[in-house]
Amino acid sequence: MSEALIETIHLKKHFNTSAGVVHAVDDVNFRINAGETLGVVGESGCGKSTLGRTMIRLYEPTSGKVLLHGQDITALSKKEFRSVQNRMQMIFQDPYSSINPHFTIGETILDPLRVSGDSGDKTSRLEKVAETMELCGLPDRYFNTYPHELDGGRRQRVGLARALVLNPEFLICDEPVSALDVSIQAQILNLLMDLQDSRKIAYMFITHDLCVVKHISHAIMVMYMGQVVEYAPKQELFQHHVHPYTIGLLNAIPTTDLSRRGRERHLLTGEVSNPINPAPGCRFANRCPYASEKCREPQELTEIAPNHFVACHECARHA
Ligand SMILES: Nc1ncnc2c1ncn2[C@@H]1O[C@H](COP(=O)(O)OP(=O)(O)O)[C@@H](O)[C@H]1O
Ligand SMILES: [Mg+2]
Repeated sequence: MSEALIETIHLKKHFNTSAGVVHAVDDVNFRINAGETLGVVGESGCGKSTLGRTMIRLYEPTSGKVLLHGQDITALSKKEFRSVQNRMQMIFQDPYSSINPHFTIGETILDPLRVSGDSGDKTSRLEKVAETMELCGLPDRYFNTYPHELDGGRRQRVGLARALVLNPEFLICDEPVSALDVSIQAQILNLLMDLQDSRKIAYMFITHDLCVVKHISHAIMVMYMGQVVEYAPKQELFQHHVHPYTIGLLNAIPTTDLSRRGRERHLLTGEVSNPINPAPGCRFANRCPYASEKCREPQELTEIAPNHFVACHECARHA
């Protein structure tokens, strides 16, 4: 197997709260190769953002490892981590929350170079900013404008430029198009795919909307209450998904496909609860139309087809 660019091993992030221990990320394992995209999908509260933040140590993991080119970056001291930090960046749903409204667009994109101690002189830094703005489809005339003067799509391009100016190998995109109109969403997704082609960046693309990751992902991982319930190459997941939660998410997508219309549709009812001191069994069982006594036992992720894993004893038995 080729070396993954980034890999997690038994990664956990638990939060101690007055109500108990929240198992926000609970033993998550996956790998992403250079230039590929992993789509991470699940309803709000499933632990997607916590996973992203823990991977780049915005949160310190409770346990487990994150390997970048095989090196465990969670074991690095804060100082050592700084040398790899630039290689991993994250963009968010609302770029406004991560940019300083008093900075111009030019200053916003320049800032990470300054903070990271980029060795170049002022001219070379400005050249990098201009190059990155062009790459992200931001005309030079925006250099001296302020974030509030731009619409949501252009602001997301600024968020992206700010992450890309450091030339990362790995970019976590946390719902970057969820707040945008559908036509603008497509522009940003196309831009991300073009950048991946030209720069071979690996993406972890987080979304609650399976439609969004359908085109851009190489593999898809479905999360539920901090755990992986199904994980497969993209085609395989769309054609042969088996976990009742994945089926529920896919059924939530409106379809014009007549062959799917007549089929029995099970829709997700209820909502995700907080994974506080969770019981050992399947966390989806209380919403699952097929739940049985056996679901109270821990569910192993089982490989049911090449690289297709599912954490459901019943699905694995029938696969
Ligand atoms: N800082 C925190 N302290 C306590 N609980 C948290 C914290 N951040 C997230 N959580 C909880 O962890 C779970 C996963 O949250 P999150 O990662 O934001 O989910 P998602 O991004 O999938 O919507 C939720 O139950 C949430 O309430
Ligand atoms: Mg989130």
